Amino acid sequence: MKFRFSKFFSSDIGIDLGTANCLVYVKDHGVVLNEPSVVAIKDNVVVSVGAEAKRMLGRCPMNIKAIRPMKAGVIADFAVTEEMLRYFILKAKNFMAPYQRIFRPTVLIAVPSGITEVESRAVQDSAMHAGAAKVHTIEEPMASAIGVGLPVAEPTGSMIVDIGGGTTEVAVISLAGIVEKRSCRVGGDEMDSSIIQHMKRVYNLLIGERMAEDIKIRIGSAYQVPDLEESMEVKGRDLVSGLPKSIRVSSLEIRTALQEPIASIVDAVRSTLEHCPPELASDLMDRGIMLAGGGAMIRGLDRLISEEMNLPVFVADDPLNAVVKGTGVVLQELSNNVQI
Ligand SMILES: Nc1ncnc2c1ncn2[C@@H]1O[C@H](COP(=O)(O)OP(=O)(O)OP(=O)(O)O)[C@@H](O)[C@H]1O
Ligand SMILES: [Mg+2]
Repeated sequence: MKFRFSKFFSSDIGIDLGTANCLVYVKDHGVVLNEPSVVAIKDNVVVSVGAEAKRMLGRCPMNIKAIRPMKAGVIADFAVTEEMLRYFILKAKNFMAPYQRIFRPTVLIAVPSGITEVESRAVQDSAMHAGAAKVHTIEEPMASAIGVGLPVAEPTGSMIVDIGGGTTEVAVISLAGIVEKRSCRVGGDEMDSSIIQHMKRVYNLLIGERMAEDIKIRIGSAYQVPDLEESMEVKGRDLVSGLPKSIRVSSLEIRTALQEPIASIVDAVRSTLEHCPPELASDLMDRGIMLAGGGAMIRGLDRLISEEMNLPVFVADDPLNAVVKGTGVVLQELSNNVQI
């Protein structure tokens, strides 16, 4: 019998370090934090992190910068990511009992499956510098599949498609391993960019990232949903006159603007299915495909994928929390199996 003091008293943390949102799970407490992955910096000092910093995006005075340190699922700015992780780990510690805060936590971080060895090391180093005692990583689609409750350990094929802000992760899982996967660096951010480009090209209207995201969430769709055809007012700056201007856009034209990024997501699903072993492919005929991540909430995406692949498609109940919940399940399992 080996007694590990710190293991017994420390509380482990699971992190979904996403391009758009960072979520933190504390063992025995559940999901304790859910904040946008945004950091506001003034003269090289962090002034705010998370929701408060996101409100500043595109609205900062010249001496403050609001930064999204993760791009396309990986770290684009190491120093800022480290600061962000430090802030989240410290904040998560508030949810632990005082005796648990003494120990540096073991951290399990979900990373995109397409990440390189160097990128994975960078994530681990950042978490170590931010206060972790030990860092483990788990592939995002695996965490997502576990988080939505797919039977990953069974000898049957399960397919998960996690559409985040920066990446879309597609995986077929069986017997606790990923059998076939695709990770494409297209997600919600790319959809926002397509909307910005569309407004520029068609209306000479310059809009910000937050406005584009708002349009996508309010009237964006991947498939015609007749009852939900809507329009909304969009405000921005006229590129010709340089003055503020507002126009009305319809869901139909936003659907057209979103066609390219959505086609890339559909292609990633198709290519994974095409390379999937036949036994597992036949399991998917019955079990279908599960969509998770914030992008899964684009209206009609489930229907489009179902029609293109000729398979049943489901959207997870709580798509934004799938990955972090998965890290929680893994941490809980690890601690149940730990020898003391
Ligand atoms: N209702 C909605 N409809 C469409 N898109 C949405 C909706 N709600 C959130 N999103 C989008 O989902 C994305 C964020 O999803 P999520 O939190 O899963 O990403 P992430 O995990 O941070 O990113 P990644 O996994 O790529 O690193 C954003 O692009 C956001 O605009
Ligand atoms: Mg994600």
